[in-house]
Amino acid sequence: MAKRLPDRPLRPATHLVRGGQMRSGFDETAEALFLTSGFVYDSAEQAEATFLGTEQHYQYSRFGNPTVTMLEDRLALLEGAEACRLTATGMAAVHAALLSHLKTGDRVVASRALFGSCHWIVSTLLPRYGIRAEFVDGGDLDQWKAALATPANLVLLETPSNPMLDMVDLAAVSDLAHAAGAVVVVDNVFATPLLQKPLQFGADVIVYSLTKHMDGQGRVLGGAVLGRKKWVDEVLQPFVRNTGPALSPFNAWIILKGLETLHLRLPAMCRSAAAIADFLAERSEVARVLYPFRADHPQQGLAKAQMAAGGSLVTFEVKGGKDAAFRFMNALGIVDVSNNLGDSKSLATHPATTTHMRVGAEERAKLGITDGTIRLSVGLEDVADLIDDLSAALDSLAPAPVPTRRVAPPVEPIEEPPVLAAPEPGTESAAKPKRSRTRTEPKAPAAETPSLLEFAAILPDAPRRKH
Ligand SMILES: Cc1ncc(COP(=O)(O)O)c(C=O)c1O
Repeated sequence: MAKRLPDRPLRPATHLVRGGQMRSGFDETAEALFLTSGFVYDSAEQAEATFLGTEQHYQYSRFGNPTVTMLEDRLALLEGAEACRLTATGMAAVHAALLSHLKTGDRVVASRALFGSCHWIVSTLLPRYGIRAEFVDGGDLDQWKAALATPANLVLLETPSNPMLDMVDLAAVSDLAHAAGAVVVVDNVFATPLLQKPLQFGADVIVYSLTKHMDGQGRVLGGAVLGRKKWVDEVLQPFVRNTGPALSPFNAWIILKGLETLHLRLPAMCRSAAAIADFLAERSEVARVLYPFRADHPQQGLAKAQMAAGGSLVTFEVKGGKDAAFRFMNALGIVDVSNNLGDSKSLATHPATTTHMRVGAEERAKLGITDGTIRLSVGLEDVADLIDDLSAALDSLAPAPVPTRRVAPPVEPIEEPPVLAAPEPGTESAAKPKRSRTRTEPKAPAAETPSLLEFAAILPDAPRRKH
């Protein structure tokens, strides 16, 4: 039976733990996993009525499943959206949101700074169906104005963007898009609904890869599309029902359990990310650091107006290009080399050779992705250990000392070579040579990052559109 939560507004942490839960007749505590592909009917008449839509009954897990419904309702409550549909991956969510809405002859305007596969859908797939696409620099409102002076059907953007953490002004672009006749689709993966709620700034549709912070423990893939009920029921649902990108109930169940700790995990990750950004900015091996809440981020003001904290990702550039970036990544002892993000394990990515390899060198140059660029997804390890790890890997970039030629002193001939006794275990000379690495206590982050409690207090009132 559906648990009736109180009618008064509840806070995000409560939605994350309780939202959407439906209890079966067995009164289980945890959300039940309905691992079933289909459902049965009391009678042929009930089956007919279900297909006619005159009776509400689950039919088939490609169309809907109770465990999946619980996650859809939880995410809709968290986002403040009227409706949600889930997909097997984040890319299936982006694909479904775009292809369900668009038709031949339509026009799309997108920010250039998109995740590689989203960029491919817009630049390569849509034109195959006669859908024209135009890219703009997402941070440049004049480019948006120029592109949206011509009628358009859909705007796609990502803020903060992957991997350069560029911001797009959600309210201004939504206004321009609506005036041009376009719906605004926002990929909110980097911010999560705890840090940024694009619907409050005028966006229409939000897409997520649930694979990232929502699962948060590197286990399963998933995607979500959220928006108005009419659009979800009439535009999106027929598309997903008939094309079949359905989320597995098992994955939905894992993500439901992942969400229960998102409000505890994310503030800790954001605090560590801010401290790491400040640490990296002090290092001579690092050419530049990008973190949305740091004073040197070119769009810090916009980031603070739209987001509750700076996020769990830090992007930086090591001096010395690809060679230095690879040496740095290979020297990491705790942080893993991976192309994923939002995990409890810290992960380092070299976008130019992985996530953004296929967008091409010219487009990467426009995006500011250099061969020395590294994207760091900060996890839940102790931040002092992470800083030690990064510090040691940066130390390893120091050029090897040039050997100086010395004239060897004359050697006194010795009759018998001395025999050195094996050192006692535990003595100074038995110890392995230590890597020169300085343990660095994390400084209080210069980028303002709320404490856990402050963060929880901000969440219900995350930045909103002012008008
Ligand atoms: C910003 C962004 N959008 C979409 C996706 C696609 O998500 P998925 O891998 O779950 O398909 C990713 C994946 O890295 C991403 O970073």
